[in-house]
Amino acid sequence: MKRSPETIELLLTRRSQLAAKLVPPGPTEEELDTILRCATRVPDHKGLSPWRIQIADRATQDKLHAKLPELHEGDPASLEKTNSKQAKTAPLLLIVSSRTPSTKAPRSEQILSGATVCQNIIIAANAFGYRNQWLSEWFAYSDKVKTYLGVPTDEEIIGFIYIGSESEIPKERPRPDLTDIVSKLEL
Ligand SMILES: Cc1cc2nc3c(=O)[nH]c(=O)nc-3n(C[C@H](O)[C@H](O)[C@H](O)COP(=O)(O)O)c2cc1C
Repeated sequence: MKRSPETIELLLTRRSQLAAKLVPPGPTEEELDTILRCATRVPDHKGLSPWRIQIADRATQDKLHAKLPELHEGDPASLEKTNSKQAKTAPLLLIVSSRTPSTKAPRSEQILSGATVCQNIIIAANAFGYRNQWLSEWFAYSDKVKTYLGVPTDEEIIGFIYIGSESEIPKERPRPDLTDIVSKLEL
């Protein structure tokens, strides 16, 4: 296996950028195709491909955004926060949801596989020089939003991944101390 110090560097320095701060350009058609091929090359118990990826360009995001107030069932303040800060300006949005009709692998594992799809999207987009943000907000959990997006209500929206170019270099944020998380198992 070939060594890839660039990949290690990318993983050690990766940072999200707020969706609202993502600016054009987004990935080209060719880059998106590669990002999607990376996204679907993930661990997948029983090879079920238990995911769905929907591509939303700016026009489609604007439509979704305009529809959110009608679909929102929570308090207006949280909607206002979402409306003003999120989901507005990213050149590209990929919506990853589960597709788990099969019982050949535990459903939880199929959903976890979807999380690896999201992470591969992020890493591949970063490798092309784009920034991104993985959001769920309230709309990942709304049956009305799922129905609007054509996602069955008994499936999970795993991530709204907003992708675009950097408008500013995100500040570093504290990372956990490995000693708090990692321990040697002694049995
Ligand atoms: C499943 C999932 C859902 C998330 N949903 C949100 C969200 O709704 N709002 C938010 O601000 N960050 C959300 N995040 C966190 C951001 O994607 C991001 O990880 C966080 O801002 C920290 O930045 P970093 O990725 O540079 O460490 C979510 C992360 C995951 C894994």
